[in-house]
Amino acid sequence: MSTNSTLKIVPKAGPARRVSVPDIAARKGGEPVVSLTAYTAPMAKILDPHCDFLLVGDSLGMVLYGLDSTLGVTLDMAINHGAAVVRGSSQACVVVDMPFGTYQESPEQAYRNCARVLVETGCAAVKIEGGAEMAETVSFLVERGIPVMGHVGLMPQSVNIAGGYRAHGRNQDEARKIKDDAHAIADAGAFALVIEGVVEQLASDITREIQIVTIGIGASAACDGQVLVTEDAMGMFTEFTPKFVKRFAEMGEEMSRAAADYAKEVKARTFPAAEHCYGVRKDGK
Ligand code: KIV
Repeated sequence: MSTNSTLKIVPKAGPARRVSVPDIAARKGGEPVVSLTAYTAPMAKILDPHCDFLLVGDSLGMVLYGLDSTLGVTLDMAINHGAAVVRGSSQACVVVDMPFGTYQESPEQAYRNCARVLVETGCAAVKIEGGAEMAETVSFLVERGIPVMGHVGLMPQSVNIAGGYRAHGRNQDEARKIKDDAHAIADAGAFALVIEGVVEQLASDITREIQIVTIGIGASAACDGQVLVTEDAMGMFTEFTPKFVKRFAEMGEEMSRAAADYAKEVKARTFPAAEHCYGVRKDGK
């Protein structure tokens, strides 16, 4: 090499680094955090470039398995779907919802099951529902290396206590309790808090008062970010859509039309056509 040659090091574009828990925590009051639910590898692959985090919500029980609530989701279901979402994504942070009955009994039970979820899925954090009563568990987990996202307001795992899915925080007592719950979970060390199905003013007050990122679902644009169940947002369900969901597509109608076209072509023997059939190769192999 001649002495006057300049060695140019051209940085190669490497694979994108995954968004981390501290990256999300640092978004408080900044650019809104974007999240959608994902339960499978192909869906995770489609959503990954657009989301800061993918939530493997226990809504998977209702969306994928046709259960009437999230209560029947098991730890094995959460782990299998969580691992699939981690495999299908490369840049978004992956957060897995802890199923009902896997963390409420004691901090020790929560640690055992959350550690399994982290180890067996490769996800970055877990989400647990609950307010002040779960604060001790949240600190126990965080102090032992498990990042926790909280969830207050409408908590689907408490549907039997709440008596259904309705907006929360419409009266002063309820609003006060949700605020106290949000403070307790933030003070316990959670890095983010989902606020579901509460009146706009309450979500905005909580977001202003607590130091951690708030993620709204049916809680207004005042939150630090938003999450939706993907199948709701994509219009996969033709029947009921909650008030807080905007349908960004009509995939249900499109898939139904495609299935009808397929059925018609199968019956008419126009599918498969010649271009979909294997021919004999000349080399005989
Ligand atoms: O299970 C879920 O999908 C959730 C979100 C809707 C927040 O908890």
